[in-house]
Amino acid sequence: MRLGVLCETAPREKRVALIPDDVAKLCGLGFEVSVQVGAGVAAGFMDDDYSAAGASVGALDAVLAADAVLTVRDGQTDNTPSQGSGKLFAGVFDPRWDATSANLLAKRDLTSFSMDLVPRITRAQSMDVLSSMATVAGYQAVLLAASHLPQMFPLMMTAAGTLKPARVLVLGAGVAGLQAIATARKLGGVVEAYDVRPAAQEQIRSMGAKAVELDLSAAEGDAGGEGSGGYARAQGEDAAELQRQQLTPHIAASDVVISTAAVPGRASPLLISSQMVAAMKPASVIIDLAAERGGNCELTQADEQVDSGGVTILGPTDLPSRAARHASQMFSHNLTEFLGHLAPEGSSALDQLLEDEDEIIKAMLVTHGGKVVGPESS
Ligand code: NAI
Repeated sequence: MRLGVLCETAPREKRVALIPDDVAKLCGLGFEVSVQVGAGVAAGFMDDDYSAAGASVGALDAVLAADAVLTVRDGQTDNTPSQGSGKLFAGVFDPRWDATSANLLAKRDLTSFSMDLVPRITRAQSMDVLSSMATVAGYQAVLLAASHLPQMFPLMMTAAGTLKPARVLVLGAGVAGLQAIATARKLGGVVEAYDVRPAAQEQIRSMGAKAVELDLSAAEGDAGGEGSGGYARAQGEDAAELQRQQLTPHIAASDVVISTAAVPGRASPLLISSQMVAAMKPASVIIDLAAERGGNCELTQADEQVDSGGVTILGPTDLPSRAARHASQMFSHNLTEFLGHLAPEGSSALDQLLEDEDEIIKAMLVTHGGKVVGPESS
Protein backbone atom coordinates (compact mmCIF):
# COMPACT_ATOMS: atom_id res chain seq x y z
CA MET A 1 0.00 0.00 0.00
CA ARG A 2 1.27 3.45 -0.89
CA LEU A 3 0.59 6.11 1.74
CA GLY A 4 0.42 9.84 1.01
CA VAL A 5 0.97 12.42 3.76
CA LEU A 6 -0.59 15.82 3.12
CA CYS A 7 0.70 19.23 4.14
CA GLU A 8 -2.19 20.65 6.20
CA THR A 9 -3.96 23.78 4.93
CA ALA A 10 -6.40 24.72 7.74
CA PRO A 11 -5.66 28.08 9.38
CA ARG A 12 -3.21 27.79 12.32
CA GLU A 13 -2.87 24.03 11.75
CA LYS A 14 0.73 23.01 12.41
CA ARG A 15 0.43 19.28 12.94
CA VAL A 16 1.37 16.58 10.46
CA ALA A 17 -0.31 13.18 10.18
CA LEU A 18 2.88 11.04 10.16
CA ILE A 19 6.28 11.84 11.64
CA PRO A 20 9.58 10.44 10.28
CA ASP A 21 10.00 7.78 13.01
CA ASP A 22 6.66 6.24 12.09
CA VAL A 23 7.40 6.56 8.36
CA ALA A 24 10.47 4.39 8.98
CA LYS A 25 8.36 1.91 10.96
CA LEU A 26 5.72 1.72 8.21
CA CYS A 27 8.35 1.33 5.46
CA GLY A 28 9.73 -1.57 7.51
CA LEU A 29 6.25 -3.16 7.49
CA GLY A 30 6.10 -2.98 3.69
CA PHE A 31 4.30 0.35 3.07
CA GLU A 32 5.63 2.94 0.62
CA VAL A 33 5.29 6.53 1.82
CA SER A 34 5.07 9.76 -0.13
CA VAL A 35 5.16 13.04 1.83
CA GLN A 36 4.15 16.46 0.51
CA VAL A 37 6.98 18.99 0.51
CA GLY A 38 7.04 20.92 3.80
CA ALA A 39 4.34 18.76 5.45
CA GLY A 40 6.16 18.48 8.79
CA VAL A 41 8.05 21.78 8.90
CA ALA A 42 5.62 23.62 11.21
CA ALA A 43 5.89 20.75 13.72
CA GLY A 44 9.68 20.60 13.50
CA PHE A 45 10.06 17.68 11.07
CA MET A 46 12.10 18.54 7.98
CA ASP A 47 11.79 17.09 4.48
CA ASP A 48 15.28 15.57 4.84
CA ASP A 49 14.14 13.71 7.97
CA TYR A 50 11.35 12.11 5.94
CA SER A 51 13.73 11.20 3.08
CA ALA A 52 16.13 9.65 5.59
CA ALA A 53 13.23 7.64 7.02
CA GLY A 54 12.53 6.15 3.59
CA ALA A 55 9.77 8.41 2.23
CA SER A 56 9.75 10.11 -1.13
CA VAL A 57 9.12 13.83 -0.67
CA GLY A 58 7.22 15.47 -3.51
CA ALA A 59 4.38 17.61 -4.80
CA LEU A 60 0.68 17.34 -3.89
CA ASP A 61 -0.13 15.32 -7.06
CA ALA A 62 2.19 12.50 -6.00
CA VAL A 63 0.64 12.41 -2.52
CA LEU A 64 -2.92 12.36 -3.86
CA ALA A 65 -1.99 9.47 -6.19
CA ALA A 66 -1.28 7.20 -3.18
CA ASP A 67 -3.60 4.30 -2.26
CA ALA A 68 -4.28 5.83 1.17
CA VAL A 69 -4.10 9.58 1.72
CA LEU A 70 -3.49 10.74 5.32
CA THR A 71 -4.33 14.08 6.85
CA VAL A 72 -4.81 15.57 10.28
CA ARG A 73 -8.00 17.39 9.33
CA ASP A 74 -8.12 18.39 5.66
CA GLY A 75 -11.38 16.74 4.73
CA GLN A 76 -13.03 19.51 2.80
CA THR A 77 -10.34 21.17 0.78
CA ASP A 78 -8.52 20.88 -2.55
CA ASN A 79 -6.15 18.60 -0.66
CA THR A 80 -8.79 15.87 -0.75
CA PRO A 81 -8.30 13.36 -3.58
CA SER A 82 -10.82 14.31 -6.29
CA GLN A 83 -11.73 10.80 -7.36
CA GLY A 84 -11.55 7.81 -5.11
CA SER A 85 -12.98 4.54 -6.40
CA GLY A 86 -11.46 2.46 -3.65
CA LYS A 87 -8.88 5.00 -2.53
CA LEU A 88 -8.56 5.27 1.26
CA PHE A 89 -8.55 8.55 3.18
CA ALA A 90 -7.97 8.99 6.91
CA GLY A 91 -8.05 12.05 9.16
CA VAL A 92 -10.31 13.79 11.67
CA PHE A 93 -13.59 14.69 9.94
CA ASP A 94 -15.91 14.94 12.97
CA PRO A 95 -18.94 13.57 11.07
CA ARG A 96 -21.10 13.33 14.20
CA TRP A 97 -21.05 17.11 14.43
CA ASP A 98 -20.76 18.28 10.81
CA ALA A 99 -21.59 16.08 7.84
CA THR A 100 -19.92 18.36 5.24
CA SER A 101 -16.71 16.32 4.99
CA ALA A 102 -18.56 13.01 4.98
CA ASN A 103 -20.83 14.12 2.15
CA LEU A 104 -17.90 15.37 0.09
CA LEU A 105 -15.87 12.21 0.70
CA ALA A 106 -18.84 10.05 -0.33
CA LYS A 107 -19.34 12.10 -3.49
CA ARG A 108 -15.70 11.55 -4.33
CA ASP A 109 -16.11 7.82 -3.76
CA LEU A 110 -13.40 7.67 -1.12
CA THR A 111 -13.33 5.00 1.57
CA SER A 112 -12.74 7.23 4.55
CA PHE A 113 -12.01 6.71 8.24
CA SER A 114 -12.43 9.42 10.86
CA MET A 115 -9.79 9.20 13.56
CA ASP A 116 -12.12 10.84 16.11
CA LEU A 117 -14.37 7.77 15.95
CA VAL A 118 -11.90 5.29 17.41
CA PRO A 119 -14.00 3.20 19.80
CA ARG A 120 -13.07 3.46 23.50
CA ILE A 121 -12.14 -0.20 23.85
CA THR A 122 -8.86 -1.53 25.25
CA ARG A 123 -7.80 -2.99 21.89
CA ALA A 124 -8.07 0.45 20.23
CA GLN A 125 -6.51 2.53 23.01
CA SER A 126 -3.27 3.00 21.07
CA MET A 127 -5.26 4.55 18.17
CA ASP A 128 -7.25 6.99 20.31
CA VAL A 129 -6.62 10.36 18.70
CA LEU A 130 -9.28 12.13 20.79
CA SER A 131 -7.47 11.22 24.01
CA SER A 132 -4.10 12.21 22.56
CA MET A 133 -5.26 15.63 21.42
CA ALA A 134 -7.27 16.23 24.61
CA THR A 135 -4.11 15.59 26.62
CA VAL A 136 -2.25 18.31 24.73
CA ALA A 137 -5.23 20.70 24.87
CA GLY A 138 -5.65 20.32 28.64
CA TYR A 139 -1.99 21.13 29.21
CA GLN A 140 -1.94 24.06 26.80
CA ALA A 141 -5.14 25.50 28.31
CA VAL A 142 -3.45 25.95 31.67
CA LEU A 143 -0.39 27.60 30.11
CA LEU A 144 -2.66 29.96 28.22
CA ALA A 145 -4.56 30.84 31.39
CA ALA A 146 -1.31 31.41 33.27
CA SER A 147 -0.05 33.75 30.57
CA HIS A 148 -3.25 35.87 30.73
CA LEU A 149 -3.66 35.93 34.51
CA PRO A 150 -2.07 38.98 36.15
CA GLN A 151 -0.73 36.85 38.98
CA MET A 152 1.42 33.77 39.46
CA PHE A 153 0.03 30.32 40.25
CA PRO A 154 1.92 29.20 43.39
CA LEU A 155 1.70 30.39 46.96
CA MET A 156 4.83 32.44 47.57
CA MET A 157 6.13 33.77 50.85
CA THR A 158 8.56 36.49 50.00
CA ALA A 159 10.25 39.37 51.80
CA ALA A 160 7.74 41.56 49.98
CA GLY A 161 4.81 39.69 51.46
CA THR A 162 2.74 36.58 50.88
CA LEU A 163 1.29 35.95 47.43
CA LYS A 164 -1.88 33.89 47.37
CA PRO A 165 -2.01 30.90 45.01
CA ALA A 166 -4.26 30.97 41.96
CA ARG A 167 -7.60 29.22 42.45
CA VAL A 168 -8.39 27.07 39.44
CA LEU A 169 -11.74 25.43 38.66
CA VAL A 170 -11.84 22.72 35.98
CA LEU A 171 -15.27 21.88 34.54
CA GLY A 172 -15.45 18.49 32.84
CA ALA A 173 -12.93 15.97 34.10
CA GLY A 174 -12.44 13.78 31.04
CA VAL A 175 -9.05 13.44 29.38
CA ALA A 176 -8.48 17.19 28.82
CA GLY A 177 -9.85 18.16 32.24
CA LEU A 178 -7.68 15.67 34.13
CA GLN A 179 -4.61 16.87 32.26
CA ALA A 180 -5.57 20.48 33.07
CA ILE A 181 -5.86 19.53 36.76
CA ALA A 182 -2.42 17.89 36.70
CA THR A 183 -0.81 20.85 34.95
CA ALA A 184 -2.45 23.50 37.17
CA ARG A 185 -1.34 21.56 40.25
CA LYS A 186 2.24 21.33 38.95
CA LEU A 187 2.23 25.10 38.50
CA GLY A 188 1.16 25.47 42.12
CA GLY A 189 -2.51 26.37 41.72
CA VAL A 190 -5.20 25.32 44.18
CA VAL A 191 -7.51 23.22 42.03
CA GLU A 192 -11.08 22.03 42.26
CA ALA A 193 -13.04 20.27 39.54
CA TYR A 194 -16.53 19.14 38.61
CA ASP A 195 -17.91 16.54 36.24
CA VAL A 196 -21.43 15.32 35.72
CA ARG A 197 -20.26 11.66 35.65
CA PRO A 198 -20.11 10.31 39.22
CA ALA A 199 -17.10 8.11 38.30
CA ALA A 200 -15.06 11.25 37.64
CA GLN A 201 -15.12 12.28 41.33
CA GLU A 202 -12.57 9.67 42.30
CA GLN A 203 -10.33 10.54 39.33
CA ILE A 204 -10.45 14.22 40.29
CA ARG A 205 -9.36 13.39 43.84
CA SER A 206 -6.63 11.06 42.64
CA MET A 207 -5.11 13.99 40.72
CA GLY A 208 -4.92 15.95 43.96
CA ALA A 209 -7.84 18.29 43.28
CA LYS A 210 -10.98 18.85 45.33
CA ALA A 211 -14.09 17.33 43.73
CA VAL A 212 -17.04 19.72 43.58
CA GLU A 213 -20.23 17.82 44.37
CA LEU A 214 -23.59 19.15 43.21
CA ASP A 215 -27.03 17.86 44.11
CA LEU A 216 -29.13 17.68 40.95
CA SER A 217 -31.72 15.29 42.42
CA ALA A 218 -34.39 18.00 42.48
CA ALA A 219 -34.19 18.42 38.69
CA GLU A 220 -37.05 17.26 36.51
CA GLY A 221 -36.01 15.18 33.49
CA ASP A 222 -32.58 13.66 32.90
CA ALA A 223 -29.97 14.94 35.36
CA GLY A 224 -27.15 13.68 33.10
CA GLY A 225 -24.42 11.29 34.18
CA GLU A 226 -22.59 8.51 32.41
CA GLY A 227 -23.98 7.36 29.05
CA SER A 228 -22.65 4.85 26.55
CA GLY A 229 -18.93 4.36 25.93
CA GLY A 230 -17.98 6.12 29.18
CA TYR A 231 -19.10 9.49 27.78
CA ALA A 232 -21.56 11.85 29.48
CA ARG A 233 -25.27 11.84 28.64
CA ALA A 234 -26.96 15.06 27.61
CA GLN A 235 -28.99 16.41 30.53
CA GLY A 236 -32.35 18.17 30.61
CA GLU A 237 -32.60 21.97 30.82
CA ASP A 238 -33.88 21.81 34.39
CA ALA A 239 -30.77 19.95 35.57
CA ALA A 240 -28.53 22.26 33.55
CA GLU A 241 -30.09 25.30 35.26
CA LEU A 242 -29.65 23.74 38.70
CA GLN A 243 -26.07 22.93 37.83
CA ARG A 244 -25.36 26.53 36.84
CA GLN A 245 -26.94 27.83 40.06
CA GLN A 246 -24.82 25.53 42.23
CA LEU A 247 -21.65 26.19 40.24
CA THR A 248 -22.02 29.97 40.59
CA PRO A 249 -20.19 30.38 43.95
CA HIS A 250 -17.36 28.10 42.79
CA ILE A 251 -16.91 30.11 39.61
CA ALA A 252 -17.08 33.42 41.47
CA ALA A 253 -14.30 32.27 43.82
CA SER A 254 -11.97 31.16 40.98
CA ASP A 255 -9.18 33.11 39.34
CA VAL A 256 -9.11 30.65 36.44
CA VAL A 257 -11.88 28.48 35.01
CA ILE A 258 -10.97 25.84 32.46
CA SER A 259 -14.04 24.29 30.90
CA THR A 260 -13.87 21.11 28.86
CA ALA A 261 -17.40 19.71 29.12
CA ALA A 262 -18.64 17.89 26.05
CA VAL A 263 -21.25 15.37 24.98
CA PRO A 264 -20.37 13.50 21.74
CA GLY A 265 -22.17 14.83 18.68
CA ARG A 266 -24.02 17.54 20.65
CA ALA A 267 -23.60 21.25 21.26
CA SER A 268 -21.45 21.92 24.34
CA PRO A 269 -23.44 22.10 27.60
CA LEU A 270 -23.85 25.66 28.84
CA LEU A 271 -22.20 25.76 32.26
CA ILE A 272 -21.31 29.46 32.62
CA SER A 273 -23.94 32.10 31.89
CA SER A 274 -23.11 35.80 31.39
CA GLN A 275 -24.49 36.51 34.90
CA MET A 276 -22.01 34.00 36.30
CA VAL A 277 -19.18 35.76 34.47
CA ALA A 278 -20.38 39.04 35.95
CA ALA A 279 -20.00 37.54 39.43
CA MET A 280 -16.30 36.75 38.81
CA LYS A 281 -13.43 38.91 40.06
CA PRO A 282 -12.01 41.32 37.48
CA ALA A 283 -8.91 39.96 35.74
CA SER A 284 -10.08 36.37 36.12
CA VAL A 285 -9.62 34.12 33.08
CA ILE A 286 -11.89 31.56 31.45
CA ILE A 287 -10.42 29.13 28.93
CA ASP A 288 -13.26 27.41 27.10
CA LEU A 289 -12.08 24.24 25.36
CA ALA A 290 -15.59 23.54 24.10
CA ALA A 291 -15.64 26.62 21.83
CA GLU A 292 -15.83 24.65 18.58
CA ARG A 293 -19.32 23.44 19.53
CA GLY A 294 -20.70 26.65 20.93
CA GLY A 295 -18.70 26.74 24.16
CA ASN A 296 -19.44 26.03 27.84
CA CYS A 297 -19.58 29.78 28.50
CA GLU A 298 -22.35 31.91 27.03
CA LEU A 299 -19.87 34.66 26.09
CA THR A 300 -17.26 32.49 24.37
CA GLN A 301 -16.37 33.28 20.78
CA ALA A 302 -14.24 30.67 19.08
CA ASP A 303 -10.66 31.83 18.55
CA GLU A 304 -11.42 35.32 19.87
CA GLN A 305 -10.54 37.08 23.11
CA VAL A 306 -13.63 38.46 24.83
CA ASP A 307 -13.36 40.97 27.69
CA SER A 308 -16.45 41.07 29.88
CA GLY A 309 -16.29 43.34 32.94
CA GLY A 310 -12.56 42.72 33.19
CA VAL A 311 -12.89 38.92 32.84
CA THR A 312 -10.95 37.47 29.91
CA ILE A 313 -12.70 34.67 28.01
CA LEU A 314 -10.73 32.67 25.47
CA GLY A 315 -12.10 29.92 23.23
CA PRO A 316 -9.07 28.60 21.34
CA THR A 317 -9.72 25.76 18.90
CA ASP A 318 -6.08 25.18 17.97
CA LEU A 319 -4.53 24.15 21.29
CA PRO A 320 -3.09 20.81 20.08
CA SER A 321 -1.39 22.70 17.24
CA ARG A 322 0.37 24.95 19.76
CA ALA A 323 2.43 21.93 20.83
CA ALA A 324 2.61 20.67 17.25
CA ARG A 325 5.67 18.47 17.67
CA HIS A 326 4.25 16.37 20.49
CA ALA A 327 0.70 16.52 19.13
CA SER A 328 2.00 15.23 15.75
CA GLN A 329 4.02 12.54 17.49
CA MET A 330 0.92 11.28 19.29
CA PHE A 331 -1.37 11.61 16.24
CA SER A 332 1.19 9.82 14.09
CA HIS A 333 1.53 6.99 16.61
CA ASN A 334 -2.26 6.58 16.74
CA LEU A 335 -2.50 6.61 12.94
CA THR A 336 0.36 4.13 12.55
CA GLU A 337 -1.38 1.73 14.93
CA PHE A 338 -4.56 2.14 12.92
CA LEU A 339 -2.75 1.48 9.62
CA GLY A 340 -1.14 -1.61 11.13
CA HIS A 341 -4.66 -2.82 11.95
CA LEU A 342 -6.11 -1.91 8.55
CA ALA A 343 -3.22 -3.20 6.50
CA PRO A 344 -1.04 -5.65 8.38
CA GLU A 345 2.20 -6.22 6.47
CA GLY A 346 1.50 -3.27 4.23
CA SER A 347 -1.45 -4.48 2.20
CA SER A 348 -5.11 -3.68 2.80
CA ALA A 349 -7.19 -6.17 4.76
CA LEU A 350 -10.28 -3.97 4.53
CA ASP A 351 -12.52 -6.50 2.76
CA GLN A 352 -11.75 -9.17 5.34
CA LEU A 353 -12.19 -6.73 8.24
CA LEU A 354 -15.56 -5.62 6.85
CA GLU A 355 -16.63 -9.23 6.39
CA ASP A 356 -15.60 -9.96 9.99
CA GLU A 357 -17.53 -6.88 11.16
CA ASP A 358 -14.38 -5.67 12.92
CA GLU A 359 -15.44 -3.37 15.76
CA ILE A 360 -12.75 -0.76 15.14
CA ILE A 361 -13.24 -0.51 11.38
CA LYS A 362 -17.02 -0.52 11.75
CA ALA A 363 -16.90 2.39 14.20
CA MET A 364 -14.46 4.50 12.17
CA LEU A 365 -15.70 3.95 8.62
CA VAL A 366 -17.47 7.10 7.41
CA THR A 367 -17.81 6.65 3.64
CA HIS A 368 -17.59 3.57 1.45
CA GLY A 369 -18.89 2.65 -2.01
CA GLY A 370 -19.94 6.25 -2.72
CA LYS A 371 -22.15 6.47 0.38
CA VAL A 372 -21.99 7.85 3.90
CA VAL A 373 -22.10 4.68 6.02
CA GLY A 374 -21.30 6.00 9.51
CA PRO A 375 -21.24 6.87 12.25
CA GLU A 376 -24.55 5.44 13.40
CA SER A 377 -25.68 8.71 15.01
CA SER A 378 -24.94 10.97 12.00
P1 NAI B 1 -15.50 14.42 26.38
O1 NAI B 1 -14.45 15.22 25.70
O2 NAI B 1 -16.65 13.90 25.58
O3 NAI B 1 -16.11 15.30 27.59
C1 NAI B 1 -15.29 15.91 28.54
C2 NAI B 1 -15.91 15.77 29.91
O4 NAI B 1 -17.05 16.63 30.03
C3 NAI B 1 -16.39 14.37 30.25
O5 NAI B 1 -15.72 13.90 31.39
C4 NAI B 1 -17.89 14.56 30.51
O6 NAI B 1 -18.37 13.71 31.53
C5 NAI B 1 -17.94 16.01 30.93
N1 NAI B 1 -19.26 16.63 30.85
C6 NAI B 1 -20.22 16.53 29.92
N2 NAI B 1 -21.30 17.26 30.23
C7 NAI B 1 -21.02 17.87 31.41
C8 NAI B 1 -21.73 18.77 32.23
N3 NAI B 1 -22.95 19.19 31.94
N4 NAI B 1 -21.13 19.18 33.37
C9 NAI B 1 -19.88 18.76 33.70
N5 NAI B 1 -19.17 17.92 32.95
C10 NAI B 1 -19.73 17.48 31.81
O7 NAI B 1 -14.90 13.20 27.18
P2 NAI B 1 -13.48 12.49 27.10
O8 NAI B 1 -12.46 13.32 27.79
O9 NAI B 1 -13.21 12.14 25.70
O10 NAI B 1 -13.67 11.15 27.95
C11 NAI B 1 -14.88 10.76 28.51
C12 NAI B 1 -14.79 9.37 29.11
O11 NAI B 1 -14.12 8.42 28.29
C13 NAI B 1 -14.08 9.31 30.43
O12 NAI B 1 -14.83 8.42 31.23
C14 NAI B 1 -12.76 8.68 30.13
O13 NAI B 1 -12.21 8.02 31.24
C15 NAI B 1 -13.18 7.69 29.06
N6 NAI B 1 -12.07 7.29 28.21
C16 NAI B 1 -11.92 5.95 27.93
C17 NAI B 1 -10.89 5.53 27.13
C18 NAI B 1 -10.76 4.08 26.83
O14 NAI B 1 -11.44 3.28 27.41
N7 NAI B 1 -9.93 3.71 25.89
C19 NAI B 1 -9.93 6.47 26.56
C20 NAI B 1 -10.18 7.84 26.91
C21 NAI B 1 -11.23 8.22 27.71
